[in-house]
Order: sequence, then C-alpha cells, then structure tokens
Amino acid sequence: MIKVAINGFGRIGRSLSREILKDKRFELVLVNDIFDIDMMKYLFKYDSVYGKTSQNIDNICFTSNKNIKDLKLNDIDILFECSGVFATKKELQTHIDNGAKKVILTAHSKDIPNYIIGINDNEYSNEDIISGSSCTANCIVPVLKSIDENFGTKRCNITTIHSYTSEQNLLDGKNSDTRRCRAAPTNIIPLSSNATNTTSFFLPHLKNKIYSTSIRIPVENSLLIDLHIELLKKYDLSKIKELLMTISGKNGINFSCENIVSRDIRNSSFSSIIDEKFTQIVNKDFLRLFLWQDNEHGYIKRVLELACKANYHEK
Ligand SMILES: NC(=O)c1ccc[n+]([C@@H]2O[C@H](COP(=O)([O-])OP(=O)(O)OC[C@H]3O[C@@H](n4cnc5c(N)ncnc54)[C@H](OP(=O)(O)O)[C@@H]3O)[C@@H](O)[C@H]2O)c1
Repeated sequence: MIKVAINGFGRIGRSLSREILKDKRFELVLVNDIFDIDMMKYLFKYDSVYGKTSQNIDNICFTSNKNIKDLKLNDIDILFECSGVFATKKELQTHIDNGAKKVILTAHSKDIPNYIIGINDNEYSNEDIISGSSCTANCIVPVLKSIDENFGTKRCNITTIHSYTSEQNLLDGKNSDTRRCRAAPTNIIPLSSNATNTTSFFLPHLKNKIYSTSIRIPVENSLLIDLHIELLKKYDLSKIKELLMTISGKNGINFSCENIVSRDIRNSSFSSIIDEKFTQIVNKDFLRLFLWQDNEHGYIKRVLELACKANYHEK
C-alpha cells in the first residue's frame, strides 16, 4: 500500500482523504492542518457538499502544526500538499527533508513540473516534487489538446465559471484584491484568471492565442468552462462530435448527452464532462464547448492517478 500524508485539511484535503480511505492502494497515515484536531475530525465526518460519512479515521494520526518543518514524515511515500500556502520547490523540499519520498502539490506551480494524466505524464522522470496542476487545466487541456491536434487552433477564449472557494469572503470584507473581497454567496464576481498560463504550460504553441476570464458564482461546488475555439479550417459539427465521442472515456473525459446542471455532476469522477447540447459551431470554424467538472472530486481523482504513477516509478 502507498503510505500517504495530507498537509492542509480544507476542501481538497478532505475530498482526497475520503477517496483515499475508499481506495485499497493507499493508506492514509497522517493529516496536518493548523486548526483544532476535534474540529478536523468533525469537518471530515460532516460535509455540506458531499454529506455525512461513517468512514473510520481512528488509525490516522492528526496533527496541528503551522510550521511544516515540525512534520515527521519518515514512513511516508507521498505527501499531498493541499494548504494553498506552500507552492515553491524550496518550500515543498521541507517535506522531503522531513522524510517524505514524494510530494504532490494540488495546484499549478511556476517552479516544479506540472503533470496531467494522459497529457504529459509519460514525461514523468521520477522527480520528488511534482504538481497535479489546477482543476481548470485538468478540465480544459485534455479536450483542447485533442481539438487542436485534429482541427488546429487559431485562437481560443476560456471563461471559467467556478463555485466560490474558501479564499473568498462570506460577507464583504478585506481580501487580497478588490472584487475578491465581496460577498461570495450573493454575487457573481468576475476575476482575472490563471487559465491562460496553466493551459499554455501544456500547449506552449498556443501561448499568445489564449484569453481567459474567471467568474465566481454563488454555488458551493462545480466548475463550468465556456470554451470558444476559432479553428484553422472549416468543419461540420458532426465531424467535431465524432472526435469528442472518440475521446470520451479517456483521460477523465466524458461526452454527455444528458441535460445536466451543476448539481448533477457532484461526485463525478470525470475531470471534463463535455456537454453535447452546448457543442455548437458558427460558420463552421468558431467552435463553442461547455465542459463540466466537480472541482473537488473530479480533480482529486486525477491527482490520485498521478500519485499511483509517481509511486510506481519509485519501486
Ligand atoms: N477548492 C478547489 O476547487 C480546488 C481545486 C483544485 C485545486 N485547488 C487548490 O488546492 C489547494 C487547497 O485549496 P482548498 O480549496 O482545499 O483550500 P482550503 O479549503 O482553504 O484548505 C486549505 C487548508 O490548509 C490550511 N492551512 C493554512 N496554512 C497551513 C499550514 N501552514 N499548514 C497546514 N495547513 C495549513 C488552511 O487553514 P486556514 O483556513 O486556517 O488558513 C485550510 O484548512 C489550493 O492551492 C487550491 O488552489 C483547489
């Protein structure tokens, strides 16, 4: 079994832990965050998005250390860094120095290798510290890459319509930037997006051809990508749908003909659900796609696949 630890027991840390406890390939040994341990256990058991769980956490060691230098990780194969605080190679090296064999960051990073399963995981060369990139990159890149390889991309516009996250405010209050400081449950909040950088990391030839915006919406979970791609040549929609059906079932992609809304994708293991009804084309070269993801569960499923890949290399 792969012995794992989680640093940062928030939305992603708790989603990961629920899935790890169901998966016989993993053993969750240690969880660390900076708040009260009884509160961590309570928040694990009762979840407003995914419901109550009766999973047994008696064998997990819970700690409350703000300074990651204090974590004892000698028997840990993989540490998942989910605090949102530590993201540089230098910071993450602390976990390796503390004994962890590998570290996987659950966010896109500027200075460690980012991997998406099915996109560039075959380039993995046994690095100690890696990232599973972002939820949005895991949603967009597998689909955009296939479209680009088959039909060519002139330019592309990404709008990420994302549920609010804990870095936003419940009510208006101070925050890192102006619109982010406004009340998340009562506003549609446009924000700048990192999707141009994360997407073009995997598709570097599109670097100056991608524009992106993020809109935070008053729902607690879900991601919808509104993706517009100007194709290099003209194609019938049937040809595009044919490709989307072919890639469905691979690399976390699903081509759905159902009339879904955000609540319907909760707990979905896919990281990119293509909405057939909103697959549209104007003038045969301006393609519009809707891509859905459960931004917690859909994302962590890919991160766990990456963890298996990293551990396999270790052996
Ligand atoms: N939520 C998503 O949709 C999503 C999807 C994919 C990737 N991600 C990425 O995953 C990471 C975590 O996101 P999240 O939504 O799970 O955030 P979150 O709910 O805020 O969880 C982060 C947790 O880490 C704790 N923490 C802060 N400093 C720490 C420290 N020094 N040591 C240990 N724990 C510490 C936080 O405590 P405090 O609250 O007290 O600071 C919080 O409990 C971020 O990098 C995010 O970009 C998020």
